[in-house]
Amino acid sequence: MADDSLSVTDNRTGHAYEIPIADGAIRATELRKIRVDDDDFGLMSYDPAFLNTASCRSAVTFIDGDVGILRYRGYPIEQLADGSTYLETAYLLLFGDLPTRDERDAWVDEITHHTFVHESMKRLMEAFRYDAHPMGMFVSAVAALSTFYPEAADVDDAENRLLQTKRLIAKVPTLAAWAYRHNRGLPYVYPDNDLGFTGNFLSMMFRMAETRFEPDPVLERALEVLFVLHADHEQNCSANAMRSIGSSKVDPYSALAGAAAALYGPLHGGANEAVLRMLAEIGDVRRVPEYVERAKAGEFRLMGFGHRVYKNYDPRARIIKDTADAVFEVTGRNPLLDVALELERIALEDEYFVSRKLYPNVDFYSGLIYEALGLPTAMFPVMFAIPRTAGWLAQWLEGIVDPEQKIARPRQLFVGEDERDYVPVGDRALRELAAV
Ligand code: CMC
Repeated sequence: MADDSLSVTDNRTGHAYEIPIADGAIRATELRKIRVDDDDFGLMSYDPAFLNTASCRSAVTFIDGDVGILRYRGYPIEQLADGSTYLETAYLLLFGDLPTRDERDAWVDEITHHTFVHESMKRLMEAFRYDAHPMGMFVSAVAALSTFYPEAADVDDAENRLLQTKRLIAKVPTLAAWAYRHNRGLPYVYPDNDLGFTGNFLSMMFRMAETRFEPDPVLERALEVLFVLHADHEQNCSANAMRSIGSSKVDPYSALAGAAAALYGPLHGGANEAVLRMLAEIGDVRRVPEYVERAKAGEFRLMGFGHRVYKNYDPRARIIKDTADAVFEVTGRNPLLDVALELERIALEDEYFVSRKLYPNVDFYSGLIYEALGLPTAMFPVMFAIPRTAGWLAQWLEGIVDPEQKIARPRQLFVGEDERDYVPVGDRALRELAAV
């Protein structure tokens, strides 16, 4: 019997099986060998929401949620947030290592020169209703990009994949900023290629009549830090969507639109928006205990708290808290910060949150910074999607060349009706319709 194996006895048949263990996992397909007879399909594993199923091998991002560790390609998130830029981090995620100076300069230059979008994209965005949610606009605009680059469909060509990757990273800030300008009824601002990635983004968001927008260096750097922190987070809901949609070999624009749609939800990237709404609803530190009690009673979830993998303080939340202090020195203190700090203090002392290991996550403080920058809450998930584009693409590129991957297609446990005969409408008895 091999050391790295699992011995299983099927009590239905008395047969024993030996299942190899590699990298701390068994292959779920090995279970198919466990059958009661030749007609049996074989044993499956049932894992709703993938609580204990690895869907891929990945070398991109490492998380140890019990101790609160996050690393991109081996580099601790704290060091990257301290010393790196978003574009350098994106390079690291995509290509596996930090660029040399020449590689970095060439990379930044290429991204900078892909920031413009086709004029028809502008008209397409202008067609949205004046109050369209910017994330809905963003998702649609990314999907629409695929129609401008039909060659992107050739996902088996490495050079082509790289070109689309550069285009996506470069163009998402332009689409994001235009979604914001549209909401404000302001003219769209074209990219300024003399500015850095985040400086140009701030320019496209906030430039008015001035000939040249001068981004505040503190805010520019704060945004870099936020973008580095949000760039990837291994197999989260949207990364899984990106890989799953990409596994059908659709072009990366369509896959990324799907990933962004997954991010939109309030349990994922929409949480930062929900946090701000919640803090505004609480409104005063004196009302915090009442809200904590309501969360404990199951009446609502404390947004920005809890995480599927972090059962400790989210390392990104700690860095964001420091970034918030730097931003508030420029913009003035966000009054909701006091509510957030009190909420965190009470929750971290409360048995309900302690026993469930519920700590503030990345979204708890990021919204306060975005609000201080003058962004409406509806823009928050878009602010998450811009940097996460690098992570989605890194996950997609890894999946597309992985010889073990195929089109994603989970199994199901069928619990519906057995075969039955069609009944003409006049012959059907009245009955309560089961909820669909
Ligand atoms: N407030 C109150 N109770 C909570 C919360 C919360 N935010 N999160 C989890 N719980 C409770 C939950 O009710 C359950 O209690 P019990 O065992 O008594 O039933 C227990 O904690 C475990 O919760 P779960 O739903 O099994 O945990 P999960 O891993 O499925 O969910 C989560 C993770 C992030 C969806 C969840 O914690 C949540 O809804 N948090 C609020 C939304 C949020 O902040 N999301 C952002 C996540 S970080 C950024 C990102 O991924 O985009």
